[in-house]
Amino acid sequence: MPHLLHLDSSADLESSRSRAISAAFADTWRSLGDDHTVTRRDLHRDPLPHLGDPALHWPPRLRAPGASPDPAAEALQAELIHELVAADVVVIGAPLYNYTVPSTLKAWIDNIHLPAVTAPFDGDDQQPMLGRTAVIATARGGVYDPGTPTEGFDHATPVLEIILGTTLGMTVETIATNLTLSRHLSMDDAARERSDRELAEAVDAARASARRLG
Ligand SMILES: Cc1cc2nc3c(=O)[nH]c(=O)nc-3n(C[C@H](O)[C@H](O)[C@H](O)COP(=O)(O)O)c2cc1C
Repeated sequence: MPHLLHLDSSADLESSRSRAISAAFADTWRSLGDDHTVTRRDLHRDPLPHLGDPALHWPPRLRAPGASPDPAAEALQAELIHELVAADVVVIGAPLYNYTVPSTLKAWIDNIHLPAVTAPFDGDDQQPMLGRTAVIATARGGVYDPGTPTEGFDHATPVLEIILGTTLGMTVETIATNLTLSRHLSMDDAARERSDRELAEAVDAARASARRLG
């Protein structure tokens, strides 16, 4: 049974582009058949608590002596990791907030990235997500093209690529839409045209990706 984990983190419940792209992916996934199941987690509507204890970054055998994290926080973390490991594909709506991921998404990352559990550590090759695909649906108010003054300012997509790709061993596909603030800021017609075109292309790309991966 091909199973999708669908995450969103935009605080915009009206006109979010990252939500539109991730929804296009999830809707296409469902349309592939009743056996194509989806677990939905909206990290903005149902925010996770920030990691309250550094011991939770480690499995019990690697924790500092005397560490005793809150059992409820530990149970929640186990649930999140179980949810991740059950997924064949993960799609993540990840808008750019202050040049990084929304704090709601960061709280999820802090809970699922555990050395020697979901990531290799010190000779322990635990990598249950190895070879599976993560699709990042990102939306950025500005533009971060090579050669622009803001090249390299986007720290959202790179951290997801490092955690999900390099560390968890997943294949990461990124679907990006830029200039999403072109209607609010004084941008020219070319910027507005690019903004609209990229959204349409991103939604098409999400549908195509879901058909391919499903
Ligand atoms: C709290 C906050 C911080 C933002 N910071 C940035 C930023 O650093 N760079 C940028 O290009 N856009 C920034 N934006 C604009 C968003 O990236 C843009 O509105 C994007 O479309 C949001 O994704 P969404 O459409 O899925 O909600 C910010 C928006 C918010 C709400």
